[in-house]
Amino acid sequence: MDLERILEAAENYAKSVLGLDGSGHDWWHIYRVNKLACTIAREEGANLFICSLAALLHDVADEKLNGSEEEGIQKVNQWMNENEVPAEVCSQVLNIISTMSFKGGNKVPMSSLEGKVVQDADRLDAMGAIGIARTFVYSGHIGQLIYDPSIQVRNSMTKEEYRNGRSTAVNHFYEKLLKLKNGMNTSYGKQLAARRHEEMEHFLEVFFKEWEGRR
Ligand code: ADP
Ligand code: NI
Repeated sequence: MDLERILEAAENYAKSVLGLDGSGHDWWHIYRVNKLACTIAREEGANLFICSLAALLHDVADEKLNGSEEEGIQKVNQWMNENEVPAEVCSQVLNIISTMSFKGGNKVPMSSLEGKVVQDADRLDAMGAIGIARTFVYSGHIGQLIYDPSIQVRNSMTKEEYRNGRSTAVNHFYEKLLKLKNGMNTSYGKQLAARRHEEMEHFLEVFFKEWEGRR
């Protein structure tokens, strides 16, 4: 199979597995991460094919869609074997995806340049205008309020507090989104993250003014 055909097949596979489920992990998230990964890969001189394939498959292994992380990784492995992905590429892609989906994965550093690129692309999709949109859709999905002034904005919440509805969409910026900038791997990823970070800060500034009728 030639590389072009493999990417096309991976695209169709991701579409069929992820669909349009609205939890923030839909096909269009994959579409954007793939585009971003290619953009960053070109700037950083990473292998485009590996970045693109890993980006397209990165959420297929998601725990939420499989019994466990291991099962998800196995599923991706099997798909690559069936689609005649070269063994060398296979092991690189599996390495990237398992590091990305590893719980608390932020603490396990990516070993390959391609992994750094794809992880940056995935994180960037949670930032900026797109990140803002995803946060509010996800919040609606789990029944969170937009904002609640009686809940002090904080940068960490316990599982309990989440379960008891003590978080809000706006709080998610402080818990996660505003921290992402500091975790970027590549220099081009850092540049893009700086812009998306500013976009979110601007959004919050306007948001709080509008909330109090000051704008
Ligand atoms: P990923 O694995 O791609 O980072 P997640 O499943 O953690 O995705 O989140 C999907 C999207 O929903 C992301 O944009 C994320 O910022 C947002 N999100 C995750 N948790 C929350 C939350 N508690 N409140 C609001 N948005 C959230
Ligand atoms: Ni993702």
